[in-house]
Amino acid sequence: MLKSVALLAALFLTIQAANYCMKDKELSENEFFDQVQGTIFANQQNRVVAIECPDPKDNSTCLYIVDRIGYLKDGSWFVGRFLTPVPDLTKGFLSVSKLVKPVFKSMSTIDTATWMVDVGTMDAMTPNSVELSSLFTTGHFEMNRDVSGNITFLGVATGGLMSFFSTYFKNLKLTGIDIDPQSEYLAKKWFGYRDTKNSKILIGDGAEHIVEMARRGETSDAVLVDACHNHAPPDGIYCPVEAVRTPEFLKSLSAVIGTKGTF
Ligand SMILES: *[C@@H]1O[C@H](CO)[C@@H](O)[C@H](O)[C@H]1NC(C)=O
Ligand SMILES: *[C@@H]1O[C@H](CO)[C@@H](O)[C@H](O)[C@H]1NC(C)=O
Repeated sequence: MLKSVALLAALFLTIQAANYCMKDKELSENEFFDQVQGTIFANQQNRVVAIECPDPKDNSTCLYIVDRIGYLKDGSWFVGRFLTPVPDLTKGFLSVSKLVKPVFKSMSTIDTATWMVDVGTMDAMTPNSVELSSLFTTGHFEMNRDVSGNITFLGVATGGLMSFFSTYFKNLKLTGIDIDPQSEYLAKKWFGYRDTKNSKILIGDGAEHIVEMARRGETSDAVLVDACHNHAPPDGIYCPVEAVRTPEFLKSLSAVIGTKGTF
């Protein structure tokens, strides 16, 4: 124990020394904010961090990773990350996460594109939050972090809800199915999602997955459906997609959740 503390201290000193050598001066909270706001955000509130186009020949498939500076009532600030279909936030957003501010504040850490995602924090006003809380407020799951069982996610978006569950509920087995491989890619690249022993993302047709589960007689304690179009579909109905509105799907769903499951 002592040895590892000493080792850590040595490592810390080495890192500090390296930073010193690189003239990477530690900035005060205010200096750091000024650099993030001025240099990285060019004094705007939002900025596009990346444009992700799964089909480079069809720009209507592009989604934007947008970081935005936010303020709390106590005057402190944070950075949120959004996934949106347009370069600004005028058309709403598909998902939002909070970023972790770097511990060592310097010129080399001002770029929010390199910050980690705080997967253990969720905005209470989002659909994810409603899905999460309703599993407990309805009495479906006991209000206890040791609760065990399994959840099937049809559509994983950026993996935010799965990440949150896997951070706090170690005894829940989580399976996400998404028809769009881009979801898993975005979840891992920009939104901090990691597969774990209890949390996996599969690429495939979620509706088909439920039909297959029913056929095999498998059950799930909860099936959460977040299967939506990313861009406006011709009929204007974003959610849920057609495949999870068919009688065959609903019949299978009913078998999969049984009398004790929830949807
Ligand atoms: C698609 O977007 C890229 C990058 O934003 C741009 O360079 C390109 O010209 C666009 N292509 C079309 C067909 O609009
Ligand atoms: C989910 O958990 C239930 C019991 O809570 C179990 O009967 C079922 O087999 C599990 N399903 C999967 C896919 O692990």
